[in-house]
Amino acid sequence: MELAGGRPPRVGIVGAGQLARMMAQAAVALGIELRILATRFDESAARIWPDVVIGSPDNAKAMERLAAGCDVTTFDHELVDTVAVATLEASGLQFAPDSATMTVAQSKRLQRERFSALGLPVPAYEIVEAGSESLQGRVENFSRTHGWPVMVKADRGGYDGRGVWMVRERSEVGPVAAIIAEMGVAAVMEAWVPIDSEAAIQIARTAQGQTATYPVVETVQVNGMLDELHAPAELPLALEEEAAATAKAIADDLDVVGLLAVELFVSEGRLLVNEIATRPHNSGHHTIEGAVTSQFEQHLRAILGLPLGSPALRGPYVTTVNATGQPGGGPLEGHLERALVVEGAHIHIYGKSHRESRKLGHVTVVADDRQAALDRARRAARLLEGRRENDIGAA
Ligand SMILES: Nc1ncnc2c1ncn2[C@@H]1O[C@H](COP(=O)(O)OP(=O)(O)OP(=O)(O)O)[C@@H](O)[C@H]1O
Ligand SMILES: [Mg+2]
Repeated sequence: MELAGGRPPRVGIVGAGQLARMMAQAAVALGIELRILATRFDESAARIWPDVVIGSPDNAKAMERLAAGCDVTTFDHELVDTVAVATLEASGLQFAPDSATMTVAQSKRLQRERFSALGLPVPAYEIVEAGSESLQGRVENFSRTHGWPVMVKADRGGYDGRGVWMVRERSEVGPVAAIIAEMGVAAVMEAWVPIDSEAAIQIARTAQGQTATYPVVETVQVNGMLDELHAPAELPLALEEEAAATAKAIADDLDVVGLLAVELFVSEGRLLVNEIATRPHNSGHHTIEGAVTSQFEQHLRAILGLPLGSPALRGPYVTTVNATGQPGGGPLEGHLERALVVEGAHIHIYGKSHRESRKLGHVTVVADDRQAALDRARRAARLLEGRRENDIGAA
């Protein structure tokens, strides 16, 4: 991207969650200016950045007010009106990733269809169109071929395990069908796969097709939500290479500009592609202190057409543990002093209001020893959540 007169580039961000907030940290270091679209001034990123446009990502006018003064505009989440984005693109405004990529990124259905067409291994699946009366019958039919449980997923609008249901038997279909009907979206039925472990891989790609691929990271989910990251994932070399090739194939196919995170299942020794995010993602938070170039800086570099940085890890082992709202735990800020005592704990607090199970922060530890990284990151995260010493145990 050509910038006139050496002025700092300005990047628009649709959404003001913790991803936008961590992008801001990276932007400060590089002298990049941001303009952030927030729905409220007390959102995570709007609290720490002065240039905020208040408006909804569903509102074309608000999106235009954001993007008009920016060299390029990017996203902190997928819940945007991609038709409005396409209209703004046609008027000459630049988005990265663009509206076509975002349309796939926000749809589990389109992802399954694209990945299958690319010949990538995915769980067996079938689509049930929006407004269809027959989800009950279709799931029962699907179970005859693929067995129970059946995974039922809302095509769009879900996150952090919301919009994904493990249906164990026919009596459980009804309530799920009612929610999906209410959401007014298509459903993806998926064979439940026996998961040995879950993993993710991040790749950054520029508009010119330059890429940088991070080492595969092992991800641990609790209740459908990401809880821990362990880098590097201890995968056989062949799977590591397959993951990297998969990420590159998807990034090229979707013409991704910016960061792409690919969620993978390791099932019976094979890789399956789960889903993607075309932006920095929770599965890459370990790269802030754990890699030479963080995913947030890399995303900014990629969307601005700047040279990409090294994705190599900065130590032998990196662990990141999410901190979530606990019953009676209160805001993380109240427990900072106790958590900071843990050796090597890099603490991130997102500045969001406390709600049970909500992602409020994370902790990363880089260490020479895998167990030490794990123990310290877990201990600091639990202390940050406000758990008592005797609930945590020695580490
Ligand atoms: N076909 C499947 N077989 C077994 N487990 C699955 C399957 N699909 C999803 N899961 C489990 O449910 C979790 C959430 O699924 P998925 O990633 O599709 O949902 P999500 O809510 O969009 O996730 P995110 O938290 O990334 O927003 C997965 O990480 C995995 O643990
Ligand atoms: Mg997921």
